[in-house]
Amino acid sequence: MDLKEKIRLFNGVGSWKTYTANGKIPEIVMSDGPHGLRKQESESYADLNKSNIATCFPTASCIASSWNKKSLTKLGQAIAAEALAENIHIMLGCGLNIKRSPLCGRNFEYFSEDPYLSGELAANYVKGMQEKGVASCIKHFACNNQEKRRQTSSSNVDLKTLHEIYLRGFEIAVKKSQPLAIMSSYNKINGLYASHNPYLLNKVLREKWGFNGIVISDWGACINAPECIKAGLDLAMPDSYGYFDMQIEKALKDKSLDEADLDTVNKRLISTAEKLHKMRETAEIKPVDYKAQHQLALELAEDSAVLLKNDGLLPLSLSENKEIVVIGELAEYMKFQAGGSSHITTKEYPNALSALQNQGFSVDYSKGYFSGFCKRSKAKKINAPLIEKAIETIKKPENKNKPVLFFCGLTEAFEGEGFDRDNLELPPEQIELLEKILEITQKVIVISFSGAPVNLLPAQKAAAILQMYLCGEACGQAIADLISGKVTPSGKLAESWPVKIEDTPSYNNFAQDHDNVQYEEGPLVGYRWYQAKNIPVQYPFGYGLSYTSFEYSDFSLPDNIAEELKAFVTVKNTGKYDGSEIVQLYVQKQNNENLNDNNQNQTYRELRGFEKVFLKAGEEKQIEIPLDDNAFKSYSLEKEDFVQIKGDYLIEIGASVEDIKLTTSVTVDGEEANNTMCSFANATSTNAKMCSFANAKLQAKAENANGTKSAETFATFSIADSLGDMAKSSWRIRLVVKILTGGLVLMNKGKSREDPAVKIAISAILENPLESLISTSGGLITYKLANKFLKWANADKK
Ligand code: BGC
Repeated sequence: MDLKEKIRLFNGVGSWKTYTANGKIPEIVMSDGPHGLRKQESESYADLNKSNIATCFPTASCIASSWNKKSLTKLGQAIAAEALAENIHIMLGCGLNIKRSPLCGRNFEYFSEDPYLSGELAANYVKGMQEKGVASCIKHFACNNQEKRRQTSSSNVDLKTLHEIYLRGFEIAVKKSQPLAIMSSYNKINGLYASHNPYLLNKVLREKWGFNGIVISDWGACINAPECIKAGLDLAMPDSYGYFDMQIEKALKDKSLDEADLDTVNKRLISTAEKLHKMRETAEIKPVDYKAQHQLALELAEDSAVLLKNDGLLPLSLSENKEIVVIGELAEYMKFQAGGSSHITTKEYPNALSALQNQGFSVDYSKGYFSGFCKRSKAKKINAPLIEKAIETIKKPENKNKPVLFFCGLTEAFEGEGFDRDNLELPPEQIELLEKILEITQKVIVISFSGAPVNLLPAQKAAAILQMYLCGEACGQAIADLISGKVTPSGKLAESWPVKIEDTPSYNNFAQDHDNVQYEEGPLVGYRWYQAKNIPVQYPFGYGLSYTSFEYSDFSLPDNIAEELKAFVTVKNTGKYDGSEIVQLYVQKQNNENLNDNNQNQTYRELRGFEKVFLKAGEEKQIEIPLDDNAFKSYSLEKEDFVQIKGDYLIEIGASVEDIKLTTSVTVDGEEANNTMCSFANATSTNAKMCSFANAKLQAKAENANGTKSAETFATFSIADSLGDMAKSSWRIRLVVKILTGGLVLMNKGKSREDPAVKIAISAILENPLESLISTSGGLITYKLANKFLKWANADKK
């Protein structure tokens, strides 16, 4: 390749492909992920809802509730089968960002608040996909834990927390399954863009973890191509229409970029492309058997649903409860996935209403509320008559003793990529209706759809609650099978469900209108926080009921547990139904050095092992639970690695983090715990240095960048600032924003502004760095035009 071609190779061609240098290099074709194939024929990246038909499997937050490593392998394999048939080499998934707040709009695409669970599930997904011949690109590396200002905000996190919580899942997936690609995230970490971050990409990912695939930028996450190359980013996506070439040429000329660095990233891209083509040559490529794929989608959805409450009404046997009342439009238009880059176009499958009827139930149905897009101001008027009609249906004399299935959940407008939720509440019309129904009858089964926790306290008087999450295209059938007892629910929550948003660890520093996101809660994320602070939750991590019951006994450990890292326990199905149990192993470190605020904190359990086991009614099995390699380790700032910490540990077997069945204790040898917590609030000057990223020079550079500014304090704007921020002080940029968003709405004619596909595009216009719009606007905003906007913004500011 000549120099021009070498430069060009760093940037993708169009939205999904790599450059081939006139056929000299095999082309890589990519597609979203993560819970199905979103193959877009159109080159316009904005066409989120236009993709080829594919199977929509349960989304990550749903399948995580299966805690079933084998299910994740099957999922990876099944998506690979569709990818192979569509000539895709790299699937953009899975997503394994930590759920720092239940409000993150994209939580439905992520597994858990726990890094070990996330990492294990991801490792199995990657394994399944890659053994079938398709590369998995795990994402978004790292600390992309909110959607608000996702392209300009800085996740400010201490190094210990970074490694123990936010990087750990990625580390497990990389070390166990060697994904061939990883996607660097949009956000900054401690002031420096993840995609420009040599500590993250070169030092941690490659040197420490031994990653030997390629790093791909999230779409529009590379801002300064030469800096990305130096940091270890191999491929910037999507096409910048010459902008990155110009940057790189200039940097090579003025020697701020070494050609050897460009060669390094080029080499990695070429060798991965060759590997991918070899994989494809030996892969079994056949036409997709959509029937079999759908069957798997059903199996996975059934394996993942979480029974939150049951006073004995479920399962509904056809002999006793053939006649049922169904309320809620979500029974008809089910919410089984959410909006954004993961949105799948599926075939039509029976909704819950018809699946229940096909099962033999006779159904009296009333919509109860409108589940489509409508302005909140109009919602009351639309919903009032529907609520009234539903109540009339319940009150019909012939319906008096029938069980009522109430379908509720977050409708399309509430969660998706590009925006976060404001609160934990269900849509108000659903709560109003539910409360009215519960005044009349409590023989109610609440079936709830959401990608993340919601406030289900208004449903507590109901006889049963079944949380389906966003469970994919086989949702309707899965509900019918679970309700009728054909299948016993066996999912458990992979995240805590808080009582109120004020209780959550990141409450004071999440998704605000500035770019500094302080991870002040340190490693106390999710259930670690609720235990350490003794805060009650709606439902704890690891919680989920079954139609059957289980008994635990004979818990034993090898003598040298810290080396053998496994445990044994016997589980017996003591109930009437066949079913699966998820056995959890927690380790509770006594004198935990992560607790530094003496008066309030208590020691807390951490998940260090789990296993799902299927048992027929009456059956008993001894199961082996492998333990996390880090079961007795924590991150040492001095050693820049995880080290074993000596001390006493409780080892507990639980059915959830709050339901401990068996306990034992061990003393482990190792190093003295280091009490330097590195919290942001009380970092001393020495540990502040330890906490910051290793490379001080880069840190200084980062502080000069805008990552640490609040939206209101821009002196002059740079091309890395967003149009939304510029619009606050510039009338001309306000006009530009109006024209761009107006054009967008026109392009999406017929779609509501509340539609996630429209919302995500509007938030990109408002929140992305102006510079990143050069690549993500598909050539519409050129470098020249961007500079004109910048000039106007700064002139109007004066
Ligand atoms: C998302 C990624 C996705 C990419 C390509 C980005 O906006 O953050 O998850 O893979 O677009 O569609």
